[in-house]
Amino acid sequence: MQADLERILFDEATILRRLDEIAAQISNDYRDRELTVIAVLNGSLVFMSDLMRRIPLPLRLDCLSVASYHGRAETTGEVIFKQVALPDVVDRHILILDDILDSGHTLAAIREKLETAKPRSIRVCVLLQKKKERGRSIDADYIGFEIEDEFVVGYGLDFMERYRNLPCIGVLRKELITQTNS
Ligand code: IMP
Ligand code: MG
Repeated sequence: MQADLERILFDEATILRRLDEIAAQISNDYRDRELTVIAVLNGSLVFMSDLMRRIPLPLRLDCLSVASYHGRAETTGEVIFKQVALPDVVDRHILILDDILDSGHTLAAIREKLETAKPRSIRVCVLLQKKKERGRSIDADYIGFEIEDEFVVGYGLDFMERYRNLPCIGVLRKELITQTNS
């Protein structure tokens, strides 16, 4: 799998060191509040699991499953919620976790949807944020790393459901992003 990478951006140790910092920030910000983490499946699973174990506060975990439609490595902007019921977040302080902020469509749609469920507060935490103009305006409150506008895989992030189990994050070789994934 590693041979499919053009280059490695962040190795496992670098990712975990950054998670220590973000977790410390989150733990400090929520020290007097009960936090509800909402992980966006499947991309945030690895990130969520390493991050939440670094937050020594009482917290709840819920997951949300969405499908955003992709033509090759690009999102088309349509976001479908796969579950019938939203997690019960009334009056809760929620922190949405996602793997990457790219066009912003997914997180903007999730945030909007969760707002209708009347939480007390909503913040967003992403492992990666791409430096680019976003289709929807959405800001993340906690960001692991800023990256260039390149397609990356590993540490939960996939290309056609592969590479999620790579321990590092790297740029996928361009010739592997073929026309067939639409
Ligand atoms: P959005 O474009 O911000 O809506 O991103 C939606 C989803 O696209 C993310 O949650 C990822 O699952 C996926 N995605 C966007 N960019 C990348 C990438 O570089 N690698 C892997 N998945 C990506
Ligand atoms: Mg994906």
